[in-house]
Amino acid sequence: MLPEQHDILFSFLTIVFTVFSVIVFINVVQQCKARKDASKAWPVIFGAFILANALFTRHMFTLVQQDQMSFFKWQALTVFVLLLTWGMFFKSENIEKQSPTMIRGMFFWMMVSLPLAGYANWLPQQRSDPPPKAAAITGEMTMEQYTEMGRVIVFGAQQVAGQKAIGKGQCPLCHTFDPGDNMGRCPNLFGVEERSHNRVKEDRYKNQPIKVGETDPASGVKKGATSGEEYLRESLQCPSCYVVEGFGGAGDTKSPMPVIVKPPISLDPVELNAVIAWLQSKETPGDFAKVTVPLPSASDAAAQPKKEAASEGEKPVFVTGSEPVDQMINTLGCPLCHTIPGVEGAVGELGPKLFEKVNAPKRIKDPRYKGKATNTKEYIRESILTPGVYIVKNDETGELYPDGVMPQDFKNKLSIEALDKLVDFISQTEPPPAG
Ligand code: HEC
Ligand code: HEC
Repeated sequence: MLPEQHDILFSFLTIVFTVFSVIVFINVVQQCKARKDASKAWPVIFGAFILANALFTRHMFTLVQQDQMSFFKWQALTVFVLLLTWGMFFKSENIEKQSPTMIRGMFFWMMVSLPLAGYANWLPQQRSDPPPKAAAITGEMTMEQYTEMGRVIVFGAQQVAGQKAIGKGQCPLCHTFDPGDNMGRCPNLFGVEERSHNRVKEDRYKNQPIKVGETDPASGVKKGATSGEEYLRESLQCPSCYVVEGFGGAGDTKSPMPVIVKPPISLDPVELNAVIAWLQSKETPGDFAKVTVPLPSASDAAAQPKKEAASEGEKPVFVTGSEPVDQMINTLGCPLCHTIPGVEGAVGELGPKLFEKVNAPKRIKDPRYKGKATNTKEYIRESILTPGVYIVKNDETGELYPDGVMPQDFKNKLSIEALDKLVDFISQTEPPPAG
């Protein structure tokens, strides 16, 4: 079930509510008929509840799941008020004892289950729908499916207990997406669609760190986005073409973000556009008007390399220790943040360079160090399993690295054997010989 689709379950529930209000109305009318002195207002009040519920039900059919969910609580509330009113009716007319058991049972059941249902609905919902398979990329994809593909590249197809939701694109390793949720060293991508249009107009964009028309050496991309879509694509293909203020290294001239179309992430053009389409539509669920990237054509689909990795996003990240150590390190994503001697392409800049043969002994001696490690291997093990114990200082800037950037959940991604192997390897890393 996609949040952008209509969910028949909610519509069914609202029909049940409407039918229920009709039953209550009939009951009230019968009770009033039975006693001459009952107020004539009661049938009118309960008739109004039928009308309200019927209108709710009609509206519910026009909504998609996400809106159904939030709308549902209003109807639940209305039915709850209906029950309270019905209770008042019983009391004031002194008929609670005489009403049929069935009606009383229904009354109590609804009184208890409705608030519960309402509460459960208030909780954040987790999605569990299967992702579109790579095989489904034909020329006939809808924009809804295409943006969903982008979402899966970012967050993966499944939530895994104890692990942050993450997909092939690795974006949540560094970025947050909800308002107010900031992790430190990487911009929150909430509102990035809107920002993308303004960025290209900034003077800062035109001149820093390279000028429009110049080529970025790291990615080989010639800078020159003019639209929001082009800005987003350039951000992913050439992070250093423009560095968001305060988020770069070396005076905001160098982005710590990896080039997304190169290893280790290596999105292909169809995937890249899917991510852009998702970025453009994520804040307007069900509405794809802001998406400017084209759907993949049949020939794009045919040109897409056949991937056994189509299912990769569906698996939790886990290394057993039987893999070669550099493969293990790549699977875990360490190179996105760390420069690691001996691992090809590990030139990440968000965290300290891993020269642990020399660094670890220094850390343990630091008066700030409050951890339990007494030797290099213990220190590395501790840094991987509980990164928050000691926060490394960046020697270049003189500031501490931000806490909370290094993922806290590696303990769920490694077997004991894999951890041993990783620690052995990292404890031997040292700076390349000078010269
Ligand atoms: C290793 C960390 C890291 C990863 C992984 C990463 N980013 Fe970034 N990203 C950054 C940093 C740091 C910046 C800010 C510096 C800059 O402008 O390049 C940034 C900037 C951006 C920007 C520009 C934001 C703006 O306000 O203009 C976009 C868009 C973006 N990232 C999207 C993504 C997407 C999509 C992914 C996944 C496919 C991703 N990033 C993966 C670290 C990362
Ligand atoms: C999203 C970015 C990120 C990822 C991914 C990441 N780290 Fe880190 N790491 C950091 C940051 C930032 C620090 C410095 C802050 C701190 O000490 O917690 C750090 C610190 C460390 C340290 C201490 C370094 C020192 O010199 O004292 C070690 C060891 C380490 N990381 C190993 C790893 C390993 C191994 C992996 C992969 C399994 C990994 N990290 C993945 C960001 C990251």
